[in-house]
Amino acid sequence: MITRHEAYDLSQRNTFGMRVSCRLYVEVTEPEDLLTLDLESLPQPLFVMGGGSNLLFTGDFPGTVLHLANQGHTVLPGPEADASGLLVRVAAGVVFDDFCAWAAQEGLWGPENLSLIPGEVGASAVQNIGAYGVEAKDIIETVHAFDLQDRRFVDIPGADCGYGYRTSLFKTAWKGRYIITAVTFHLSTVPQPKLDYGGVRKALEARWREEGIGSETLRSQSDLRPSHKWAPPSNVPRVAQVSDPIPSSLSPQMIRDTIIGIRRTKLPDPEEVGSAGSFFCNPVISREHFERIVAIAKEENGPDYEVPHYEVGDQVKVPAAWMIDQCGFKGMRLGGAQVYPKQPLVIVNASGDATPDEIVALERRVIDTIKDKYGIELHPEVEHV
Ligand code: EPU
Repeated sequence: MITRHEAYDLSQRNTFGMRVSCRLYVEVTEPEDLLTLDLESLPQPLFVMGGGSNLLFTGDFPGTVLHLANQGHTVLPGPEADASGLLVRVAAGVVFDDFCAWAAQEGLWGPENLSLIPGEVGASAVQNIGAYGVEAKDIIETVHAFDLQDRRFVDIPGADCGYGYRTSLFKTAWKGRYIITAVTFHLSTVPQPKLDYGGVRKALEARWREEGIGSETLRSQSDLRPSHKWAPPSNVPRVAQVSDPIPSSLSPQMIRDTIIGIRRTKLPDPEEVGSAGSFFCNPVISREHFERIVAIAKEENGPDYEVPHYEVGDQVKVPAAWMIDQCGFKGMRLGGAQVYPKQPLVIVNASGDATPDEIVALERRVIDTIKDKYGIELHPEVEHV
């Protein structure tokens, strides 16, 4: 089914809560309907939207916003499924966290660390969403899409999608070419806990104790990915122990609940305050540049101060949240826009009626201040439309 709405109010369709509209809003519930839709006749430009959770409308949109609202998932039968896992094809319009909840309920491993990330499945494959040491690309087998250029449905292996940190070819070289209709994820029936990011292990151990499940201590596993982990302040690398046991009662549901708990303490509740999650990407800089930042930090915070960071090959990733915090932006307001006090990487619509101009002005102030102080140009993660 295809539904069309002229001069459509988008305020309920973007998690930032920007009060903007588009000339035409088209919702498609069956991917096959895309074949009957005369896309060229629609007011241009065309913008394909998912859950509206990672974008900032900078004003009224002059063209067509198209949303694919298909639902449902299918566990794929046949040779793809094996003893250690299975493939599940999930419609693009499914809320990503509903998929996470389903997987956890079924005892399937893979997306549990991505719990509570706002947005829909289609967008997760564009943005390569990530949290707590896991990225969507880690579980994406195939992306199913409608090719607007050749007007046909295609299946693109995840390995060909050019995935990187919060990016893919759908955001770059292929921008505007495909409408994602579904994503096939591979999930594991064999435990694959990823606990080494930030406070996950600690929070899980606390939950473990609280619930009196046992006295087992969660330790590093050989399959953990230290590449996703911020270096601890002491800079002492954690060495994964191949022989460490996985507590037998550890379930994806337990990890999901723990991640939800952590997110709720740090990130704004979308029901209460509008935002688009992390507003900026974490920058990667040269080692020499990092040393200059360390010198500034030590001068300001004392000689023993350690800058949180993570080594990426011969470069260094520095948390943008740390820099924004160091520049005193936590809680700063500009009109209705605010740097979220508990996680300064997030800009929120604090008043509920912040304008796009106020958000952009605060973004500009953060970018300019960080550039002046650290010589780093922050790039927004949030797509500006
Ligand atoms: N930090 C501070 N002050 C603060 C907050 C953080 O100094 O007030 C420093 C701390 O050293 C902390 C570091 O910043 O260790 C990193 O913070 P955090 O672990 O919260 O993660 P992040 O790098 O700020 C990224 C993702 C989040 C994701 C978390 C957890 C990006 C752009 N953001 O944030 O993703 O939830 O890691 O995995 O990579 C999102 O994409 O919308 C999102 C929320």
